[in-house]
Amino acid sequence: MSTTYFERDAGPAATANPLGIKGIDHIEFIVDAADRWRDFFVQKFGMACRFYADEASGVCGRRAHVVGQGRVNFLLAEPQGGGPEAALLARHLGQHGCGVRDVAFRVRDARHALAEAARRGAKIVRPVDEHDQFVGGAIAAYGDTIHTFIERKPHTEFAPGYRPVPGAFEDGDINFAMIDHVVANVEHMEPWVKYYEEIFGFDLFMHFDINTGRSALMSKVVSSTDGWVKLPINEPSSANSQIQEYLDQYHGPGVQHIALLTPDIVATVAEMRRMGQEFLEVPDSYYDAEFDQRVGEIEEDKEALKQLRILVDREPGEGGGYLLQLFTKCVFARPTLFFEVIQRRGRARGFGEGNFRALFEAIEREQTKRGTL
Ligand SMILES: [Fe+2]
Repeated sequence: MSTTYFERDAGPAATANPLGIKGIDHIEFIVDAADRWRDFFVQKFGMACRFYADEASGVCGRRAHVVGQGRVNFLLAEPQGGGPEAALLARHLGQHGCGVRDVAFRVRDARHALAEAARRGAKIVRPVDEHDQFVGGAIAAYGDTIHTFIERKPHTEFAPGYRPVPGAFEDGDINFAMIDHVVANVEHMEPWVKYYEEIFGFDLFMHFDINTGRSALMSKVVSSTDGWVKLPINEPSSANSQIQEYLDQYHGPGVQHIALLTPDIVATVAEMRRMGQEFLEVPDSYYDAEFDQRVGEIEEDKEALKQLRILVDREPGEGGGYLLQLFTKCVFARPTLFFEVIQRRGRARGFGEGNFRALFEAIEREQTKRGTL
């Protein structure tokens, strides 16, 4: 197992962000039942309903809800009626099951972003659509995934035809501030690393290679020069890799997981568990003497972390900080997409690479105890 961080070259600002990306605007999921998945994110992720749209509100071919918390917005769309848009959504659903279609970016100038992306070799899949408060257009990314570039004037409307849901606010102990990272599974990562470098001006931020014997994976992380957008890209490095399983189940490349940044993982996970959200199982042996040694001094109560089965990864180097994380079980019918809850302490900048090994070793210790290894 190895991890390499790459230092950023300090280039001139104009070339560092050629598309004028400000951050992730929203993530669009194509789902089989928009109401049901809205309820899921409201009940288990503490999100509020922010907007809705359907043919009656002036949107063709879809019925959609926007749910969110903090700067996180999830657009949940199902096909409705006939026409090309409904057919496209139905095709996406048929091929991939429920999943992510669009990782949409907020940009300073959508016309410029689209034209510049095309000039740099991107394929435009939706030309610029201009309204009073909203300008958007989209380019193709890995598999059937797209990136929409959105420019908003006053921040009052989600998109044309979307109506605000009155009185919607987030309540309770679940607290998400923003999307920390969005992970793609692809067959070959190199062309996609190049895609984000050449079209978006993103930098290769780190590279890690994990081989636990059960699951091998190679990952490169590209990130915007300001560090606010982080996109790890995985490729399978063995036939039995979990990445290969995803590619088979999803029928192609796509979004594997979305990490939501929280300022309080203990309260957030406690509440999500209380609401019935299921997480990856972590064996008792993860929290034995090795845990204490590996993690060292932390601000959280270790007993609470053990109770809630939260993982901790101490980063190497002086002042490296640590991160706390936990992964949900796959949420949709196919074993494809899951979510991560993450909190970063100090200058933690990784993705929990140390936890892959720690988890694997913990499982081995359990097996040794049971005499099966
Ligand atoms: Fe992650």
